Amino acid sequence: RGPETVTPTGAPSGAAPEDVAQQGEHLTTSQGARLRSTDHSLKAGPRGPVLLQDHHLREKITHFDHERIPERVVHARGTGAHGVFVANGRAEKICRAAFLKQGVETDVFVRFSTVVGFRGSADTVRDTRGFATKFYTEEGNYDLVGNNIPVFFIQEGIKFPDVVHAVKPEPDKEIPQAQSAHDTFWDFVSLHTEAQHHTAWNMSDRGVPLSYRMMEGFGVHTFRLINDAGETSLVKFHWKPHQGVHSQVWEETQLTAGNDPDYHRRDLYDAIDAGAYPAWDLGVQVMPDTEDEMFEGIDLLDPTKIVPEELCPVEIIGTMTLNRRPTNFFAEVEQVMFNPGNLVPGIDVTNDPLLQVRLFSYIDTQITRLGGPNFSQIPINRAHCPVNDMFRDGFHQHAVHGGVAPYKPNSLDGGNPAQGKDSDTVAFIDVPTPVEGAKVREKPASFEDHFSQTTLFVRSLSEVERQHLARAYTFELGKCYEEAVKLRQLQCLANIDADLCAEVAAGLGLPVPEPTVPPAEVEPSPALSQVGKKWPV
Ligand code: HEM
Repeated sequence: RGPETVTPTGAPSGAAPEDVAQQGEHLTTSQGARLRSTDHSLKAGPRGPVLLQDHHLREKITHFDHERIPERVVHARGTGAHGVFVANGRAEKICRAAFLKQGVETDVFVRFSTVVGFRGSADTVRDTRGFATKFYTEEGNYDLVGNNIPVFFIQEGIKFPDVVHAVKPEPDKEIPQAQSAHDTFWDFVSLHTEAQHHTAWNMSDRGVPLSYRMMEGFGVHTFRLINDAGETSLVKFHWKPHQGVHSQVWEETQLTAGNDPDYHRRDLYDAIDAGAYPAWDLGVQVMPDTEDEMFEGIDLLDPTKIVPEELCPVEIIGTMTLNRRPTNFFAEVEQVMFNPGNLVPGIDVTNDPLLQVRLFSYIDTQITRLGGPNFSQIPINRAHCPVNDMFRDGFHQHAVHGGVAPYKPNSLDGGNPAQGKDSDTVAFIDVPTPVEGAKVREKPASFEDHFSQTTLFVRSLSEVERQHLARAYTFELGKCYEEAVKLRQLQCLANIDADLCAEVAAGLGLPVPEPTVPPAEVEPSPALSQVGKKWPV
């Protein structure tokens, strides 16, 4: 912590020895008084009623009664591990961030997750997977809060509650637990056709990864980097697994979900325990920071679009290795807080309207989930560099702040910290991008095309992947009760790929609709197929 701040626990990193309880020879109350017995309550006679005055009993039961905190509203089911990121220096020319300088090693904590299921749901369900990384850099924590699918369901954050309401279990019966086997899911994605691209990735083998170790990760949004010379570029982040990209087939997912609902969690921890540390390369697609923020006709602010790797290759800028399990799952995996707004000097956001809303949402939800605004003091969330934020008080305040003047400038405290100057290369930079326009609730014309990249994805799959895709659409749509919903989704498939539509329609016993948009003329992008995919491809 910074010079003005004293914490009772001191060391910043997760699971530091002093954070481990159950030490010492004697059992005590939480106030340190030694106990004679924790097995029997205080009673009026050995078989008499339990006495209210039993302080230890009440303290023990009360603490237990409050052991649970709310699970995450999305991504509730997850698992995590510690590791290290080593930069290879290739990003130095485009980004001033210290952790990207050649050879710099940075501690990381990664949390993988499913999106929809509850905290106790099975690992191997069909769903998107979260891939969130916290870099404890010397310039502050940087969070890359990504997914294993490079696009998102919606283009604007204001629709996030709607899509989540549609994918979560239906409110009357609270079934199904599965993301996509129900009417509200297909109702939403067929009405909000911007969701079709993400849905196709979900229905593909990417929706059923074999292992967290064998997934790609994507930052999804376009971010803005700034280098030492003040030059900017636009990038998309990619994680490329050294283990290759692999999936389960549908029957395997059924077996593993039944036989071992912790399959992915166990797989990650078994690998780490065996010393087979999983590793990923971090890569960037680098695009010029043009006034229109477009690249080869693709709107870089639209999170439902990829930039094909054939048009802009991924350049590797470092490698992450996960090498340590959490000591305490709750303290680390459940209490870790990621936030796309946790940025470091050299990395900035763009106007992507999904990203902009995320910048608000994560802190907001975490204040509820962790009971107040002081969760950055929890060991797993602490920065590994001095912190001097002048924040005070609030629920669960653990710091004993010194000084009398937590504001700046002041003339009373010795701790009157310096502010970054514009020329200060280690201070955060909000890149001064020009903004103008009338206040409107509209979407740009460049967000209109919802089908051509979905077609690109479908056509890029190998034959066996395409068969899996058709079967997944047929199975999941087959769970719908409403025929009108199935027909509307078939209409979307007709706009994406005629053969796929015909196959799914045949499986459902429904007629094949005519497309309502001209067929997309796309060059298949082999980089999207995952059959036998190793990195570097
Ligand atoms: C978790 C909101 C879009 C990736 C969460 C959480 C919320 C949320 C409220 C729970 C956080 C917590 O309790 O700690 C939103 C909103 C979005 C959005 C409002 C759109 C406006 C996305 C996108 C991605 C993403 C596009 C991927 C690029 C994640 C991940 C987690 C998460 C990986 C889990 C983090 C963890 O493991 O703790 N999101 N999200 N979200 N979100 Fe989003």
